[in-house]
Amino acid sequence: MSVKLALMNEEAFNQYYNNAIQEYANEHVKAGNWSEEEALDKAKKQFEQLLPDGLETNDHVLFSIMYGIETVGTLWLNIRTKQHEKHGFIYDIKLDDDQRGKGYGKATMIALEEYAKSENINQISLHVFAHNERAVALYEKMGYEATSYNMSKKLS
Ligand SMILES: CC(C)(COP(=O)(O)OP(=O)(O)OC[C@H]1O[C@@H](n2cnc3c(N)ncnc32)[C@H](O)[C@@H]1OP(=O)(O)O)[C@@H](O)C(=O)NCCC(=O)NCCS
Repeated sequence: MSVKLALMNEEAFNQYYNNAIQEYANEHVKAGNWSEEEALDKAKKQFEQLLPDGLETNDHVLFSIMYGIETVGTLWLNIRTKQHEKHGFIYDIKLDDDQRGKGYGKATMIALEEYAKSENINQISLHVFAHNERAVALYEKMGYEATSYNMSKKLS
């Protein structure tokens, strides 16, 4: 099983961008950070800052994850240069709802490593919530290690 990472086209990007803003707004409402009234506006502003030139934004690469001719998900990578080394940071990896649990996640991470090597990127990092067991399992299997922990304790 292997997948290809294809640079997103404008149509796929618009769809992805609008969905991602909506999801991001919903998450912040659910987490109690933003009210429903302000959420969409705030989410839009943050995305506009991150991707001011859409697909053409410097240092950001957005991929459609392709299995044959079928798009099964999306991957958003940020590339930063630190002390003359290129580091990749996964901003988002998402398989379509009905494509999860089929091994595409692993195939995507392998394809990403191949892309990174071809671009002389020598480190890939990401953030994952501890409750996202499937994602954590995937990254650990792919050799990723935790570099820091956020810890909290509910007091009531
Ligand atoms: C996270 C995601 C990319 C993983 O891709 P996937 O193709 O669904 O991953 P898989 O189902 O193949 O699971 C990867 C590994 O985790 C294991 N796994 C699956 N569910 C698990 C669970 N609940 N607990 C522990 N391990 C689990 C699998 O056994 C698999 O290992 P294997 O290949 O050795 O069998 C995908 O599920 C997704 O898009 N989720 C929604 C968005 C998301 O959470 N993105 C990550 C943000 S950090």
